[in-house]
Amino acid sequence: MGTEKKLRSRDWFGKTGKDGFIYRTFMKIHGYPSDEFDGKPVIGICNTWSELTPCNAHLRELAEAVKKGVWEAGGFPLEFPVMSLGETLIRPTAMLYRNLASMDTEESIRANPIDGVVLLCGCDKTTPSLVMGACSVDIPTIVVSGGPMLTGKFQGRDIATSDVWRFAAEHKMGKISDEELKIAESGMCRSQGHCAVMGTASTMASMVESLGLSLPGNAAIPAADSRRKLLAHLSGRRIVDMVEEDLTPSKVLTRKAFLNAIKINAAIGGSTNFIIHLTAIARRMEVELELDDFDKHGSNIPLLANLMPSGDHFMEDFYYAGGLPVIINELSEYLDPDVLTVNGKSLTENNKDAVCYDRDVIASAKEPFQENSGTTVVRGNLCPDGAVIKPSAASPHLMQHRGKAVVFESIEDYKERIDDPDLEVDETSILVLKYVGPKGYPGMPEVGNMTLPKKMLEKGVEDMVRISDGRMSGTAYGTAFLHVSPESYAGGNLALVQNGDIIEVDVKNRRLHLDVSEEELEKRRQKWSPPPHDFHRGYVSLYIEHVEQSHLGADLDFLTGKSGSIVKRESH
Ligand code: FES
Repeated sequence: MGTEKKLRSRDWFGKTGKDGFIYRTFMKIHGYPSDEFDGKPVIGICNTWSELTPCNAHLRELAEAVKKGVWEAGGFPLEFPVMSLGETLIRPTAMLYRNLASMDTEESIRANPIDGVVLLCGCDKTTPSLVMGACSVDIPTIVVSGGPMLTGKFQGRDIATSDVWRFAAEHKMGKISDEELKIAESGMCRSQGHCAVMGTASTMASMVESLGLSLPGNAAIPAADSRRKLLAHLSGRRIVDMVEEDLTPSKVLTRKAFLNAIKINAAIGGSTNFIIHLTAIARRMEVELELDDFDKHGSNIPLLANLMPSGDHFMEDFYYAGGLPVIINELSEYLDPDVLTVNGKSLTENNKDAVCYDRDVIASAKEPFQENSGTTVVRGNLCPDGAVIKPSAASPHLMQHRGKAVVFESIEDYKERIDDPDLEVDETSILVLKYVGPKGYPGMPEVGNMTLPKKMLEKGVEDMVRISDGRMSGTAYGTAFLHVSPESYAGGNLALVQNGDIIEVDVKNRRLHLDVSEEELEKRRQKWSPPPHDFHRGYVSLYIEHVEQSHLGADLDFLTGKSGSIVKRESH
């Protein structure tokens, strides 16, 4: 084919002599005939399949569908594993390892004879880690998400991950028995796929589709639906052409594409984790993207999706209603039409004929579920580098609020005291959690939507203001100010908050203020030192030393940017 000169795999399989012999003969272990090595584009299928990541447990099957497409289009598919991050099992938090998995992905792609790559991901962190890694290599790349689970069922009702918090609160109050909890447990995850709501995994699948990194329709097709395999098959065909066209991420991921993705995320009420991951991807691509871009470009966008956790429906309903293509079509007047996607067409062109089949799930831009959606960025002496809140998941009556801080010095302190009957707290109090940021935990876990004190729940209180330097699960809700930057462990003023301090919250005016004089804060600062930790070796110590603050995407400082695909030295 015409691309033979530019195929990087020819530097391996096209060689003569001893080196070429070694490269080819060992690949023949798989039973490939000699002509497979004659200049076909080699397509890497980067797989996060793992039984320890149940949301991605079906990705081996999906890889086979990708391979069919690659073979059909004249490519040579080679599947390889990278570190897989399962949200539910990994301790202390999968986020701690997102950057490590991205390094694995980046180095695995660069080090091998791969001309184009298909990224197979699903569970929350598996998507950003693979995309970040592939961006730093910048060879043709297409994403195939695993797809959401079918909607869960319990006692005749639809359920999904967002109900876990409700079940926990009801169990705490004795409203649901141990036996019922077990039945719910069996009914929630009843098919392959990732969380069935617009949590972080679905937000990430929507993000890649919005950025133009996947074929249209990628975000919502359920994992159990045969059309998910069809999308994988077509993506396998398409990546071969992308190699021919040299359609690399740097041609797709322009600043315009990132701004489109911010607007689309606002319209679907996507997870706050989107901010951290999109920022990290932009920094890998060397595209300028600031925290304020998320507020500036996302906050005047109408909310068009009525999906859990902020709304009523599930990802399966979203797909049947038309999915992300309908959202993109409805938003066309807000989007930059001039952005390329992996199929070679623009985002708006791809979705211009999308039809909505259920207006209770996807609204029109003229009659949205909410006029303004998105994420609000607040600043103040508590967060000079910003903090974020998702208004669609918060309570309107708490958006402007003044209350006394109830401070927890660590997650352990919170767990020990939150249900203490003597805890001095009422519904106007503001719960403050320290040392759950990138360096402080370490790994910035999803604990920012702290469950309310038992005595508040018993009183019927459903929401309170919560502030932390941690994150919130995309499946969670509440008036939670998250990602406070700089974090408490790095000496941010969050570390200096004491019980009883007054905090002022004003979302409309983008303000989060600790009402304590600078003089008093300085006195406290003089006495403060970060809590000791015992991570003195290995990856975690490297992470603590090099992780950037959340407003920069919490990547490792030496991973921003690209190294490209060239490897100068050979192995033999
Ligand atoms: Fe994997 Fe929710 S736990 S997507």
